[in-house]
Amino acid sequence: MIVKQRIPYSRCVLVCVNDRKGEKPSCGDQQGEAVFRQLRAVAKQRGLHPQVRITQVKCLGQCAAGVTVMIYPEQVWYSGVSLENVNEIVEEIFAKSLG
Ligand code: FES
Repeated sequence: MIVKQRIPYSRCVLVCVNDRKGEKPSCGDQQGEAVFRQLRAVAKQRGLHPQVRITQVKCLGQCAAGVTVMIYPEQVWYSGVSLENVNEIVEEIFAKSLG
Protein backbone atom coordinates (compact mmCIF):
# COMPACT_ATOMS: atom_id res chain seq x y z
CA MET A 1 0.00 0.00 0.00
CA ILE A 2 1.34 3.42 -0.89
CA VAL A 3 0.92 6.52 1.24
CA LYS A 4 0.38 9.93 -0.32
CA GLN A 5 1.30 12.96 1.78
CA ARG A 6 1.88 16.64 1.29
CA ILE A 7 5.59 17.52 1.01
CA PRO A 8 6.69 19.68 3.96
CA TYR A 9 9.30 21.65 1.94
CA SER A 10 8.78 24.96 0.18
CA ARG A 11 11.78 24.30 -2.12
CA CYS A 12 13.78 21.31 -3.24
CA VAL A 13 17.38 21.89 -4.26
CA LEU A 14 19.06 19.02 -6.08
CA VAL A 15 22.84 19.05 -6.26
CA CYS A 16 24.63 16.62 -8.57
CA VAL A 17 27.51 14.82 -6.85
CA ASN A 18 28.07 12.17 -9.50
CA ASP A 19 31.73 11.26 -9.85
CA ARG A 20 32.67 9.16 -12.87
CA LYS A 21 36.32 9.20 -11.82
CA GLY A 22 37.43 10.83 -15.04
CA GLU A 23 35.94 8.16 -17.34
CA LYS A 24 33.44 10.75 -18.62
CA PRO A 25 32.76 14.37 -17.64
CA SER A 26 30.78 14.60 -14.41
CA CYS A 27 30.02 17.03 -11.61
CA GLY A 28 32.47 15.12 -9.45
CA ASP A 29 35.24 16.59 -11.61
CA GLN A 30 34.23 20.04 -10.32
CA GLN A 31 33.82 19.27 -6.61
CA GLY A 32 30.12 18.36 -6.69
CA GLU A 33 30.27 16.73 -3.26
CA ALA A 34 31.98 19.77 -1.72
CA VAL A 35 29.41 22.12 -3.31
CA PHE A 36 26.59 19.99 -1.89
CA ARG A 37 28.06 20.01 1.63
CA GLN A 38 28.76 23.74 1.54
CA LEU A 39 25.32 24.59 0.15
CA ARG A 40 23.64 22.54 2.87
CA ALA A 41 25.81 24.03 5.62
CA VAL A 42 25.22 27.64 4.54
CA ALA A 43 21.48 27.04 4.09
CA LYS A 44 21.31 25.66 7.62
CA GLN A 45 23.22 28.65 8.96
CA ARG A 46 20.76 30.96 7.22
CA GLY A 47 17.79 29.16 8.78
CA LEU A 48 16.51 27.61 5.55
CA HIS A 49 16.45 24.13 7.04
CA PRO A 50 14.06 22.30 7.16
CA GLN A 51 11.75 24.34 4.88
CA VAL A 52 14.23 23.98 2.03
CA ARG A 53 15.34 20.46 1.24
CA ILE A 54 18.85 20.21 -0.17
CA THR A 55 19.68 16.79 -1.45
CA GLN A 56 22.41 15.10 -3.47
CA VAL A 57 21.59 13.32 -6.71
CA LYS A 58 23.53 11.18 -9.15
CA CYS A 59 22.95 12.99 -12.44
CA LEU A 60 20.81 15.79 -13.84
CA GLY A 61 21.78 15.31 -17.47
CA GLN A 62 24.16 18.29 -17.67
CA CYS A 63 27.34 16.37 -16.98
CA ALA A 64 29.81 18.43 -18.99
CA ALA A 65 28.52 21.68 -17.47
CA GLY A 66 28.77 20.74 -13.79
CA VAL A 67 28.42 21.28 -11.02
CA THR A 68 24.68 21.30 -11.72
CA VAL A 69 22.14 22.53 -9.16
CA MET A 70 18.39 22.30 -9.86
CA ILE A 71 15.71 24.15 -7.88
CA TYR A 72 11.97 23.44 -7.61
CA PRO A 73 9.32 24.78 -7.78
CA GLU A 74 11.06 27.53 -9.81
CA GLN A 75 12.27 24.98 -12.36
CA VAL A 76 15.66 26.62 -12.71
CA TRP A 77 19.08 25.13 -12.74
CA TYR A 78 22.55 26.47 -12.35
CA SER A 79 25.48 25.07 -14.30
CA GLY A 80 29.15 25.52 -13.60
CA VAL A 81 28.58 26.02 -9.89
CA SER A 82 31.69 26.21 -7.72
CA LEU A 83 32.24 26.74 -4.01
CA GLU A 84 32.50 30.48 -4.69
CA ASN A 85 28.88 30.54 -5.96
CA VAL A 86 27.30 28.87 -2.93
CA ASN A 87 26.51 32.06 -0.99
CA GLU A 88 24.93 33.66 -4.06
CA ILE A 89 22.64 30.67 -4.62
CA VAL A 90 21.66 30.53 -0.94
CA GLU A 91 20.80 34.25 -1.03
CA GLU A 92 18.52 33.65 -4.01
CA ILE A 93 16.82 30.70 -2.34
CA PHE A 94 16.47 32.69 0.87
CA ALA A 95 14.87 35.63 -0.94
CA LYS A 96 12.40 33.35 -2.70
CA SER A 97 11.56 31.52 0.51
CA LEU A 98 10.62 34.80 2.14
CA GLY A 99 8.57 35.94 -0.83
S1 FES B 1 27.16 14.13 -13.70
FE1 FES B 1 26.24 15.93 -12.91
S2 FES B 1 24.66 16.31 -14.33
FE2 FES B 1 25.45 14.40 -14.96
